[in-house]
Amino acid sequence: MTAQLIDGNQLSKQLRTEVTARAQALKVKGVTPGLAVVLVGDNPASQVYVRNKVKACEDSGLHSVLEKYEATLTEADLLARVEALNNDPSIHGILVQLPLPAHIDAQKVIEAISPAKDVDGFHIASAGALMTGMPGFWPCTPYGCMKMLDSIAYDLRGKHAVVIGRSNIVGKPMALMLLQKNATVTICHSATPDLKAMTLQADVIVAAVGKRNVLTADMVKPGAVVLDVGMNRNAEGKLCGDVDFEGVKQVASHITPVPGGVGPMTITMLLVNTLEAAERASK
Ligand code: GUN
Repeated sequence: MTAQLIDGNQLSKQLRTEVTARAQALKVKGVTPGLAVVLVGDNPASQVYVRNKVKACEDSGLHSVLEKYEATLTEADLLARVEALNNDPSIHGILVQLPLPAHIDAQKVIEAISPAKDVDGFHIASAGALMTGMPGFWPCTPYGCMKMLDSIAYDLRGKHAVVIGRSNIVGKPMALMLLQKNATVTICHSATPDLKAMTLQADVIVAAVGKRNVLTADMVKPGAVVLDVGMNRNAEGKLCGDVDFEGVKQVASHITPVPGGVGPMTITMLLVNTLEAAERASK
């Protein structure tokens, strides 16, 4: 068996067309959805990420502002900028790119963002809303994974989902989203003694560790759905995920590639959240 690919580029294109249409409808009402992206310092990967986010906004008819600051920016000055953006009616979503320089308390900055504009879904209020099933913003990467499962009409009820990784931005929110759709969820992590014993029971596996070959073919039940959140480089410098794609695709029923899988979905869901923020603000 060779798994069917879940194509994140194609699904993103489809979802972004919907975003563009909804943005247009808001514009008719006099509201242009706006995203502020704040970058502190010159981390090369972050520079690429924020450029892609701003470009995605432009392509979908969203207004975006990129604020770039030297790595020497003080925490107090950054908090003041966040407060100004909280009070700016042309901005519906605020994203402070992580990591921040070491002298800035990232959590403090995240908590300074108004929950109504927290399109990253990193604020404690957003995490609490996800946990309790209240309206809020879901973190973009796991939200994108859920859309990928929707795209294959996958019914999670009664299924066993195994999430590998327990980060606040992917693993933990991913587990809560799967749980909300009535899956039985197991979270595995670096202290899990027998990862293979867990993954072999899974109908759905989400790999979100940030390490190559965390999941190999012998660890996957035939017919399982495999979502790969990893973004790593192999020995030749080529982008690859956490999953041994060539091996696992022989066993799984569906699999996401890297690149072209979960990655593009993360930015797409940022657009969706920004649009949602603008729609809520205009009600
Ligand atoms: N750094 C890497 N990924 C992300 C993300 O999704 N949001 C923010 N704010 N920073 C990041």
